[in-house]
This record gives sequence, C-alpha cells and structure tokens, in this order.
Amino acid sequence: MQRYEIAKDIYYVGVNDRHKHLFENMLPLPYGVSYNSYLIVDEKVALVDTVEGPFAEELLDNIKEVIGDRRLDYLIVNHMEPDHSSGIRIMLAHYPGLKLIVNAKTIDMLKGYYGLNEDVMLEVKNGEEISLGGRMLSFHFAPMVHWPEVMMTYVAKDQILFSADAFGCFGTLDGAVLDTHLNLGLYFDEMYRYYANIVGKYGSPVQTALKKLGGLPLSMICSTHGPVWTKHIPEVVGIYDELSSGKTQEGVVIAYGSMYGHTEQMAEMVARGVASVMKNVRIYDVSTADHSLLLSEIFKYKGLILGSPTYCNEIYPNMQYIMNKIATRNIKDRVFGYWGSFTWAGAAAKGFASFAESMKWEEPVGLEIKQSMTQAQADELFELGRQVAERVKKAFIK
Ligand code: FEO
Repeated sequence: MQRYEIAKDIYYVGVNDRHKHLFENMLPLPYGVSYNSYLIVDEKVALVDTVEGPFAEELLDNIKEVIGDRRLDYLIVNHMEPDHSSGIRIMLAHYPGLKLIVNAKTIDMLKGYYGLNEDVMLEVKNGEEISLGGRMLSFHFAPMVHWPEVMMTYVAKDQILFSADAFGCFGTLDGAVLDTHLNLGLYFDEMYRYYANIVGKYGSPVQTALKKLGGLPLSMICSTHGPVWTKHIPEVVGIYDELSSGKTQEGVVIAYGSMYGHTEQMAEMVARGVASVMKNVRIYDVSTADHSLLLSEIFKYKGLILGSPTYCNEIYPNMQYIMNKIATRNIKDRVFGYWGSFTWAGAAAKGFASFAESMKWEEPVGLEIKQSMTQAQADELFELGRQVAERVKKAFIK
C-alpha cells in the first residue's frame, strides 16, 4: 500500500469512516468522516492521537506499514473525545512501555474513561517540550476548543501543528490527504457545519487559541478530521476566525414550521421581500431540513427570520428545537424577523419576541397572522422580509 508521508518522516496513519450515519449520534454524515492520526518517526517514534475504537486495528496496520516491528515510544493525547481516544487501550496492549503524553486534565479523563494508571502517562505543562532525538515537540494548551483538556502539538523543525479538532471538518479523505490534492469545496462547506455544531459554543476560546498560534510559523496544520492543510492554511484559519469572532456574511436565513402549508406560503412571501433587496436568501422547513445544516447557515449569515404556527399554546416543537440550538451557542447580533400564525389563540409571535429579547438581539421586525394569509398580509410579509434584508445590507455598509 502507498504510505502517506506528509513531510519527511511524518506520516498520516488515520482512517476513513463511511459507516457512521450520525456523528455524536445526531449530525448526519453525507460524506463520512475521517479520524486523523499521525506518526512522527525519529530516534523515538510518536503517534499523535488515535482513532475511534472499531478502527484501531486499521490504525495499527497503518503504523506497522511505516515502522514495521519498531517500538512506538509515545502516544500524544491531544484530545480525549472518544472518536480519538477509544483506540488508546489497544495501542497500550500492543506496545508495552508506550508512554502517553498528557496534561493534568487528560489524566482524570484517561482514568475515568479507560481505567488507566498514571504509570503509563507522562504529564506535560503548557509550553513544555520533549525531544524525539532529531525533533523537539512542544505542547500548547487550547482549553475548550472544544473540550477542557485539548492541547495542540507543534513540531518546530517542520513547522507543523497538530491541532486536535481545530481546523477540522467532516468528509472522508478519498485517495489523498493533503489539501493540494483534494477538491476542497466540499470540505469548506463541511467546515462551517462542523464548526457550528461541534465547536460553535466556544468562540472565545477559539479566538484565544488563534492569538496564541499567531506567532508560530506554520507550513502544515494537521487536524483530527479532514484534510491536512498546507497551501490553504490562510483560508482555513480565516474561516475559524470569521466564525469564532462572530463575523457574518450578507444574507438571510428563513426557517419555518408548517403543519398544513399556510405558514409555508407565508415563508415564500417573506423570501420575496428579502430577494427584492439581496440574492443570498435560504429557506428551510424545520420539519424536513437537516438541523445541523440549518445551524451552520444561521452561523454564516447576518439575517434570520423564523416563522411558526402556535402549537399547544407554544411555538411549533421542531422550531423550538432549532431555537434551543441557537440559544445554547449564544449566537450574537443577528438582524431578526419573525411571524407567528395561529387558528384561535396566538402564542408563537410572543414566543419569538421573548426569544429575541433573551438573545439580546436588536428590536426585531415581527408579525402575527390568524389562519390563512390575505393579500394585505402577503404584502406585510413581503415588507417584513424586505425590512430585515435592508437592515442586513446596512450592517455591511462600511
Ligand atoms: Fe473529533 Fe472533539 O472529537
């Protein structure tokens, strides 16, 4: 088999998962996902992270293909989420004497998840270095990107950063691992979805990590998911900077819930109003749309308009689900519009107004409509969309 040598004596030994349907048992994986693991072969040999448990044998095969019967000296545990750590016990069983390079927060998780003793671990402090012989590795803590124990490993000699989940995305690595050998459109789209759903709550720690890394010369970023970044590092860092600093793009997302089609018709009118001002308008039905995709669109665009019928005197349940995701991630500064529909007693419009207040967004544009839409109400809905779009446009005027 052809080995993936990504830099002199540094190998990609990760795996592709095309079996899993839902990442974290929630997020669809239409293009699969890779669990990336890397091998640094020097006077000593170090593995950076493992893969999800069912793929550990494949990881072992990949390692052996590179080092044959040589021993593995270190396993650097940059991140403990089980998609990267559940292969650790198999590595320990296979390589007696293997030392896990960990930090204080990792130790507790290794004990809790895998019942490991500290005698297999070597604790490092933030900024500390260890030598592989011809290379020094330094460790840089990045707490809450997106777990508390996360650290990144930097190899100064090769200017390579092993960044844990940061700069990662969904999508398997089909036939190549370097960004320069892959068609990247898919990965960039999946990066937005990955960030919004996995990392999205932790924008401020990501900004802290980006500032810390700003001083390091980088020729390569090796994340735990997705391509190895070389030539496209500036774009990838730019996407993470955009998303973590709350920057948005000019556009409006419209999401609606509809039981019999009336609220859906209203959404069409709202969209026409938005489209009279700008081209970037996306409509999603909360009952059929993939919520992870919808959330990534909401992260990306400045404008958001939600429409819902009243259901059991509340907002439609599928709409509440996406609102909960928005609130959990504390998405800031959206230009917000809403409309509520009802048959005999309205509650959705009030619910949206309180939601905007709880999110501390600016005063929203809102409407409430009883039963089916009249021509006059169609005009009002058009005007709702137009006003939101105008506000969004204004926000981008320098
Ligand atoms: Fe890919 Fe946070 O694990």
